[in-house]
Amino acid sequence: MFQQKIKEIDPISDFKEEKYLEEWVMKYRSLGMKGRCADYIPALGESNRSDLGVYMINSNGFEMKAGDWNVPFTLQSISKVISFIAACLDRGIPYVLNRVDVEPTGDAFNSIIRLEMHKPGKPFNPMINAGAITVTSLLNGDSPEQKLESTYALIEKMIGKRPTFNENVFQSEWKTANRNRALAYYLKENGFLESEVEDVLMVYLKQCSIEVTTKDIALIGLILSQNGYDPIHKRQVFPKQIAKLIKGLMLTCGMYNASGKFAAFVGIPAKSGVSGGVMASVPARCRQKNLFQTGCGIGIYGPAIDECGNSLAGVELLKHLTEVYDFSIF
Ligand code: DON
Repeated sequence: MFQQKIKEIDPISDFKEEKYLEEWVMKYRSLGMKGRCADYIPALGESNRSDLGVYMINSNGFEMKAGDWNVPFTLQSISKVISFIAACLDRGIPYVLNRVDVEPTGDAFNSIIRLEMHKPGKPFNPMINAGAITVTSLLNGDSPEQKLESTYALIEKMIGKRPTFNENVFQSEWKTANRNRALAYYLKENGFLESEVEDVLMVYLKQCSIEVTTKDIALIGLILSQNGYDPIHKRQVFPKQIAKLIKGLMLTCGMYNASGKFAAFVGIPAKSGVSGGVMASVPARCRQKNLFQTGCGIGIYGPAIDECGNSLAGVELLKHLTEVYDFSIF
């Protein structure tokens, strides 16, 4: 189906564009060697720092990919976007926002400081660990399995297949998640969790260990760019109101304590994960006439991260693409 769409566009010039994409990946790949993999989760420390891949898909189904686009990696914090959408679908936006705010923190993703400083300890946003753990506890179902199923079912609907699960990464993080346990106990004490601590941690960490490729997250980014509408399968997956809310959160909080710089210098809603994935969603409003003018989803993977937890090479590649294709929403 995608192949037919490609022909409708312009196969000759599109082919050239993919060749450029490959060159840009080559250019930024070496940046990975300046960063580190997220070895606070021991299994992630084994990733190959020089991997870099990208997948882009527009609203006509035209796709472009380069580098290590097909290497599987775990969602990590990109899962925060999906669990937030699932919780809003399950419980409604007002219920969710009663338990988690929509304000950026400027702190590290696993910081505990603001939970105690701002009473009554409501997490600032669902893109930091405290907020995502809270949101995860709100998912439909009484058991961890049922809650996890809410997130899985939504992903399956968006990427058209059941994603795989990385047991090794999950076990590695489960054994070492002391900071997340501390956050969860604090949230429980303040009445924000609707599950037992170990149960919600299991769901949260299992969501983080769901395995995807750049293509999968590009498809999710595309659906977000079309306000919850899947232009490939021609159906509304979630309401526009939820899409607008999560894109606002991605823009202001999606790249952690580098979100301000990312908004200023890249200017599109995006969400990173410590495994090196970046999911970006480009709305249909860039001014330049080009292949991605009607909106697109971008998936990037580059496992070496910077001190904020964002893919070093991935962010630079995204900056470059933004300049070439005029992606910034500003
Ligand atoms: O909870 C954690 O620390 C990880 N499973 C996810 C953190 C993460 O991806 C932050 N990202 N940049």
